[in-house]
Amino acid sequence: MAHRTPILAGNWKMHKNHLEAIQVVQQLAYRLEDRDYEHAEIAVCPPFTALRSIQTLIQGDDLKLQLGAQDCHWEDQGAFTGEVSPPMLAELDVAYVVVGHSERRELFGEDDATVNAKARAVLTHGMRPIVCVGETLEQREAGEAEGVVRRQLDGSLAGITAEQMAEVVVAYEPVWAIGTGKTALPSDADEMCGAIRTRIAEQYGQAVADGLRIQYGGSVKPGNVKDLMGQEHVDGALVGGASLDPEDFAVLCSYHRL
Ligand code: PGA
Repeated sequence: MAHRTPILAGNWKMHKNHLEAIQVVQQLAYRLEDRDYEHAEIAVCPPFTALRSIQTLIQGDDLKLQLGAQDCHWEDQGAFTGEVSPPMLAELDVAYVVVGHSERRELFGEDDATVNAKARAVLTHGMRPIVCVGETLEQREAGEAEGVVRRQLDGSLAGITAEQMAEVVVAYEPVWAIGTGKTALPSDADEMCGAIRTRIAEQYGQAVADGLRIQYGGSVKPGNVKDLMGQEHVDGALVGGASLDPEDFAVLCSYHRL
């Protein structure tokens, strides 16, 4: 099996002002100090308003954390009131940008073409997109989960080269598991992450697919992280609620010690 460095990313969503954000990261850093977590990459994705403060903190204290953003526009600049561009993020040493989160798709009308434009723009500016896909409960119950995820994957990754795929992270987040306390069974998560890998192999070849990191997201907590991360095709977690609690997130980061 190819070696893949696991990646755990905390998606803070619309929580924490920049002062609170500093506190969370300081507390996280303190809790990570005596934990063994360096086998994995850890990223924090605060709101845009906290990126600069967290960048300064990470660099000033030489923290082993990556900075992530939760979204971006696809153009470099222009008359797009309220939007933030990829080069603006790259300038703040942002390493990862979440694109196509189900909340963006559902609440802000983003489709696969939008997500694709964002993912490509992120890659163009030397950052890594975390491309989110996942089915709703209705789609799962109708037996459509795999087809839905495959369609999202194909649309969101259109035009991305094999070389660029090495920089892409895919996050499988079943919509019904996000913020609900309902987690996918580790075997179901693995099955879908495996299907994602198979699809990537069909399009990019086995070597690219073997190197692809696929996160599971949806109510990941200290109590279920180990089982999820133990699955063959699950290479990380995209964590919402539990990433706001420094203790919980620190535990998640050292899941292999649980
Ligand atoms: P949750 O959110 O961990 O709170 O379920 C996950 C996400 O939306 O990325």
